[in-house]
Amino acid sequence: MADYKNILVEKKDAAIVLTINREKAMNALNRETVAEIQGFISSHWSDDSFGVLIITGAGKAFVAGADISEMKDMDIEGGMDMSARGNYLFKSIQNFPKPVIAAVNGFALGGGCELAMACDIRIASEKAKFGQPEVNLGLIPGYGGTQRLSRLVGRGKAMQLILTGDMIKADEAYRIGFVDEICAPEELMDKALAMAQTITSKSPLAVRMAKDCVNRGLDMPLSNALDFEKVNFGAICGSYDKTEGCTAFLEKRKAEFKGK
Ligand code: HXC
Repeated sequence: MADYKNILVEKKDAAIVLTINREKAMNALNRETVAEIQGFISSHWSDDSFGVLIITGAGKAFVAGADISEMKDMDIEGGMDMSARGNYLFKSIQNFPKPVIAAVNGFALGGGCELAMACDIRIASEKAKFGQPEVNLGLIPGYGGTQRLSRLVGRGKAMQLILTGDMIKADEAYRIGFVDEICAPEELMDKALAMAQTITSKSPLAVRMAKDCVNRGLDMPLSNALDFEKVNFGAICGSYDKTEGCTAFLEKRKAEFKGK
């Protein structure tokens, strides 16, 4: 694995765990950290040696947002460039061929909340806190928050969180459907790894295609999305894994998927 300054990358069973590791700044996403995560994503795009990517944070924060010290003197062009680089990264995470689980250990604020939303599944420690506090800084969310939050929790809740800047606790985030599971802090990584293991035991081809159908379908009118699903369903019917999966079920044995 490449040498990084602000992220740790570790292979754990079938998963890679990427830990954002700028504890002194609550893992705030400065320019360098965004570039390092992008570097990891780009260089592992076609890496089939792992099944799931887990993103977490070191210490008491997941990510406390974009680095505020980099924004104070930022001009219009700088702001657009920063938003573009972050949005490019978060789209890469959303479209990453492997599932991405956010294991939210603590504060997920601003860009951190947006990072969690770009992931496919969110598991949170009971200690996690979420929010889009940009309005407190005279800013708006700029890494996808104004768009992904309303798609995830609905327009009203998204408006409430974005316009008040209020933080919510993990149980409230779970209640509104922002996070998919909550657990005790000490169970967080085991839970994420167990989910990664479950996903990795399925056909990698089917997992990749299902993720793509859900994501791309959300950007389409329903009738187009259903057509997209139909074409993909047809395509997967031509796979080895489909024949193996269905045969194994009928023969009452465990399927041995090959990802082809
Ligand atoms: C830079 C940050 C930071 C951030 C925390 N720190 N968040 N530095 N950018 N986003 C730094 C603090 O300045 C401090 O540095 C150290 O981390 C510890 O933070 P404390 O505030 O002392 O810790 P605590 O009292 O426990 O409070 C934790 C916290 C708070 C609730 C997370 O730090 C906080 O509110 N942070 C800002 C959250 C925020 O507004 N995020 C949105 C950013 S805007 P020192 O040197 O004093 O020890 C954004 C826009 C995204 O994300 C889109 C861009 C295009």
